[in-house]
Amino acid sequence: MQVNPFDYVVFGGTGDLALRKLMPALYYRERDHQLTDDSRIIGVSRTDQNTEAFRAQITKALEQFVPAEDIEAGVLARFLGRITYVPLDATKPAGNWPLLVDALKDGGEKARVFYLATSPVLFGAICRNIKEADLICPKTRVVLEKPIGKDQASANAVNNEVGAIFKEEQIFRIDHYLGKESVQNLMVLRFGNALFEPLWSANYIDHVQITVAEKVGVEGRADYYDKAGALRDMVQNHFLQLLCLVAMEPPSSLTEDMIRNEKIKVLRALRPITAQDVKSRTVRGQYRQGAIEGKSVAGYAEELGASSNTETFVAIKAEVDNWRWGGVPFYLRTGKRMPTRYSEIVIQFKAVPHNVFGRGAGELTANRLVIRLQPDEGVNLQIMTKVPGPGGLRLRSVPLNLSYAETFKDRYPDAYERLLMDTVRGNPSLFMRRDEVDAAWAWIDTIQKGWKDADQPAEPYPAGSWGPLSAALLLARDDRRWNDAD
Ligand code: BG6
Repeated sequence: MQVNPFDYVVFGGTGDLALRKLMPALYYRERDHQLTDDSRIIGVSRTDQNTEAFRAQITKALEQFVPAEDIEAGVLARFLGRITYVPLDATKPAGNWPLLVDALKDGGEKARVFYLATSPVLFGAICRNIKEADLICPKTRVVLEKPIGKDQASANAVNNEVGAIFKEEQIFRIDHYLGKESVQNLMVLRFGNALFEPLWSANYIDHVQITVAEKVGVEGRADYYDKAGALRDMVQNHFLQLLCLVAMEPPSSLTEDMIRNEKIKVLRALRPITAQDVKSRTVRGQYRQGAIEGKSVAGYAEELGASSNTETFVAIKAEVDNWRWGGVPFYLRTGKRMPTRYSEIVIQFKAVPHNVFGRGAGELTANRLVIRLQPDEGVNLQIMTKVPGPGGLRLRSVPLNLSYAETFKDRYPDAYERLLMDTVRGNPSLFMRRDEVDAAWAWIDTIQKGWKDADQPAEPYPAGSWGPLSAALLLARDDRRWNDAD
């Protein structure tokens, strides 16, 4: 279905995010006929070039990031036709603003989205200049890319600056994990099935694991990454959002504030990790030279061209101090240059209280629900079954498997496709509210401070491994192990 007419302005229009994610997402929405004829896309950046050059840049990016069979000449021509470019240093009030005003002429009735795909330190100035140029119309929304700030104080400052210009309901803080199909399906799995929710608590769940493993290194983003590190880059946003969706109480409906009201309770119930317990509850790591799929890859410091103590891997034992989750650890783990790219959430159930089969039948393995976020999205439930045969009773844990690719033959839209259209629709339910960002930073800041106070170094791990040995020990100490360690 078509969304209402819009003008989409992307600041940072020639940047990596815009070319790699935003333009391909909009292209696919074009291909699916979701964009009305009068909707316009305007790229803004400091690069001094014209619309033709920008269109050529986008064509090249699409060729790189969209599979060739999805690029249709007619669709591409239609898509490029709605794109214009404005060379502008948006952090300065003077300059080419009249060109942007002109590009947005006669668009006052449409949804007008300003997507700030820039560093958060520029958000305040850009918003002020948007206002100064008198570009705010009734259906204006502003989209803020993560990370918002680098700690609670700087995030607050950014939110204050943006909040001085836009109302909270106009501000869309994006976390693209919330737009992933498999992440949205988590809510359907929990609240659309009677089966799981009665078991979804400390009564039946032993622990939860969330892993996001990436094969890539820092990919030309070393400047940003070295200041951020894995904790700020991945945990503060994506992981805490996933944790919230696993741990939150059922909202009474899916309206924006119902979901966000439940998520914020989880964030506020996270037990702080301070200098006393950072060593026992967190692991920091940094990749060294190693090999992935037989190919040698450089270490982080070599890629960066300098030595650094920034973590490219982090593992955390988190705890949610509330009635539902008391005593259930949430083990979080993410790293760059892992052996393979995969993300999953593992719900490890407790063992049955008594083994009626006797030892000879084989070990009784506790049930485990694995929600595979990427790749090969799906759900897998390990259950005990009898091995067929006339002999004695023998038991084995086998998977009940749901593969989305096999069940649904459709293409899986990228997270940004859904989220960009939500910004046009003005639906913020899959975006972060200010208090969520604030509570997430409060928890992260304590860990950062703990690391600093305890002088916790980033332990080396070879590229292509599952991180430092301490990550395995984090679970082994609790008599548990990571799912992939089986
Ligand atoms: C981004 C991080 O938010 O998420 C990147 O900044 C990371 O460092 C990326 O690679 C991972 O996203 P995805 O969708 O590929 O899992």
